Amino acid sequence: MNQKHVLIVGGTGMLAEVTSCLASEHLVTVIGRDPERMAKVVRRNPETCHSLLLDYRSEQDLSKGLQESIKRYGPFKQIIAWVHRDSGKAMQIILNHSSHADVLHILGNQANSEQEKRALCINEQQTYRQVQLGAKQDGENFRWLTHEEIVHGVIDAIEHSFDYQLIGQLVKKGGMNG
Ligand SMILES: NC(=O)c1ccc[n+]([C@@H]2O[C@H](COP(=O)([O-])OP(=O)(O)OC[C@H]3O[C@@H](n4cnc5c(N)ncnc54)[C@H](OP(=O)(O)O)[C@@H]3O)[C@@H](O)[C@H]2O)c1
Repeated sequence: MNQKHVLIVGGTGMLAEVTSCLASEHLVTVIGRDPERMAKVVRRNPETCHSLLLDYRSEQDLSKGLQESIKRYGPFKQIIAWVHRDSGKAMQIILNHSSHADVLHILGNQANSEQEKRALCINEQQTYRQVQLGAKQDGENFRWLTHEEIVHGVIDAIEHSFDYQLIGQLVKKGGMNG
């Protein structure tokens, strides 16, 4: 069990390429709900990529799933967490199960990064960092990031130790024209 154990929450959607990239080097556990979406991602690295099918809004399922994964593959050394904002205690439960990990919390455009951090209980052995997904200017309008831009920005954040990294720029609610 010498490989680093990485947890990717929401690693079957726009972060699927990040999951594959990490699973080419490390042992990766991926959280998602949809079995078909999950199978597509796991199939790319069947030896190193392991599925954890659950709804992270269920505190009990999430805690149990994380505990089983740690028991099987060892403590998480790195967390990539794309957790929707209306998900109750999911992010805190993930932090509670990764006491010595480098945690990369991915935030959407509308999130307040300071508030998100303040709301969490982070221990001294953890490194907590954030990547926020903004928008790109396209002529006079703004557009959301492409999956490639998101993946590139997240991998860049994994490789560098910024406390906070913004991909694109933040736009106010209702500020998207395109
Ligand atoms: N600023 C930006 O440009 C920006 C920001 C955010 C999103 N987007 C765009 O919007 C699209 C849709 O966003 P999205 O959030 O649906 O992203 P997504 O990454 O495509 O899908 C969400 C991921 O989280 C998992 N997930 C969601 N809810 C879950 C739950 N309750 N329990 C367990 N896993 C859960 C999904 O798995 P399951 O499907 O299996 O549940 C999936 O892996 C993205 O593809 C992206 O193009 C753009």
